[in-house]
Amino acid sequence: MELNDLIKSFRTEKELNASPRPYFNHSVSFKKKYTADERMETLKRAGLNVFFFPSEMITGCDFLSDSGTTTMTDEQWAALHLGDEAYGSNRGYFLLAERIRETFGKKYFNDPGENRPNAFIFHQGRSAEDALFSLLGETGQNLIIPSNGHFDTTEANIRANKIEAKNLFSPELKDENSSSLFKGNMDTIRLEKLLAESRERVPVVFLTITNNTGGGQPVALDNIRAVAAIAHKYGIPLMLDACRFAENAWFIKKYETGYENKSIEEIIQEIFSYADGFTISFKKDGLVNMGGGLFFQDNGEFLKKYPDLPNRLTDYQIMKEGHPTYGGLSGRDIMALVYGLKTVTREEYLDHRVGQVRDFGDAMAKAGIPVLSPAGGHAVYLDINRFFAGTAMKPGDFGGIGLSALLLALYGHRACELGYFAFGSYDENTGEEKWPEVNYVRFAVPRLRYEKQDLDAAVAAVKALYDNRDKIPAVNVVYGKNLTLRHFKARFEFR
Ligand code: F0G
Repeated sequence: MELNDLIKSFRTEKELNASPRPYFNHSVSFKKKYTADERMETLKRAGLNVFFFPSEMITGCDFLSDSGTTTMTDEQWAALHLGDEAYGSNRGYFLLAERIRETFGKKYFNDPGENRPNAFIFHQGRSAEDALFSLLGETGQNLIIPSNGHFDTTEANIRANKIEAKNLFSPELKDENSSSLFKGNMDTIRLEKLLAESRERVPVVFLTITNNTGGGQPVALDNIRAVAAIAHKYGIPLMLDACRFAENAWFIKKYETGYENKSIEEIIQEIFSYADGFTISFKKDGLVNMGGGLFFQDNGEFLKKYPDLPNRLTDYQIMKEGHPTYGGLSGRDIMALVYGLKTVTREEYLDHRVGQVRDFGDAMAKAGIPVLSPAGGHAVYLDINRFFAGTAMKPGDFGGIGLSALLLALYGHRACELGYFAFGSYDENTGEEKWPEVNYVRFAVPRLRYEKQDLDAAVAAVKALYDNRDKIPAVNVVYGKNLTLRHFKARFEFR
């Protein structure tokens, strides 16, 4: 028998429906052992606020965030040693400039020698946002920044500068019967209406890829193109919040007609060609533990509209972060980022990464647990309204908070409420709560960190809680109901 025929006579890996991970463990960290009683005692002392629970006591999976929690590759660990800690123009800065151009497009990092700065490094995403919104806030009164879904700290930075943050979620996001694979899209009808009525109040339009607040759902290239066209028609620049750009590109390749034969790199370049700039936290798809940035397309609509902003941003950077050639980062952070950006666009990495999150979501759904389906790129979102449907749990009982606390105490997995408590607000004048459009508990999956066995254990734990959902107690808010960004600070007790 010919060798080729021999190969063909066996089933392929795809047909076996089982393929190995595209990487192996290089170094591991052993967990400590704790009992449910010990975890409950500690959590009670932390006022049931999972943010204050010591991570060393997490015996299951830590799903609090996929941000800065990536397991780095051996290349990245090696690159740390090549970090150059010079105060000006360290080696990594030039490599990063090249990597940014290769990843997002040539126009996103002007040659530092040309003195036309358009690339600004920050220590994380929110510091880049603060720089941008504090300067934009000075350009007018009663401003509004619309988005397909602002992240919580993004919204807080916008509001802190007296700008209104408006979410134009796609109607499909809340339609559980919708078969759309791009539920992260912006509602373009509402965008067009907003700009037709109030264009002078809108300094920029934002598009978050993937849409974290909107269930981590992806945004179609078709929608990115449409949003750019509408914004530009009214003379308004389009900015991306690009934290999970590679995951979003993967969804476009897999699910959008016409992109199946394009490479991830080509799709990323096309996405960014429609934008005039972007903010980014490299703690997600930079595959690093720290880093952020603000980038503008050379000769794009943003720089045409705000030509003096680069100089003011440079001042901001020098005063608050560091010399523009290192921003808020050490030379070694920059080197790790250069290699992280190289890995993140590899298709086998993304197949595994997004596939793992999708399988995790499918396993929850198969167990009958109400989750947003199909899952987005980085997290599985429990739909809390459906989870507690038919029980005595009321909105003001904050079921998502009680559920997350019990999951952590009983089974050692840490997830995070992103719903009625995190995004809601309390009006001291009327004594009433204002409920947001979405009510989730999020299981964010750190990159390259957990294996199927870990995620299966989390599904079993959530299933056990779901089967006993009528026993999950309501919580009282004992501190912080009236505060801004209250989910980070509040304390609770079981009722
Ligand atoms: N934009 C989005 C869409 C984000 O998800 C985040 C962070 C930021 C901006 C801010 O970036 O943390 O570097 O300052 N999201 C993390 C999360 C914290 O858990 O989803 P940062």
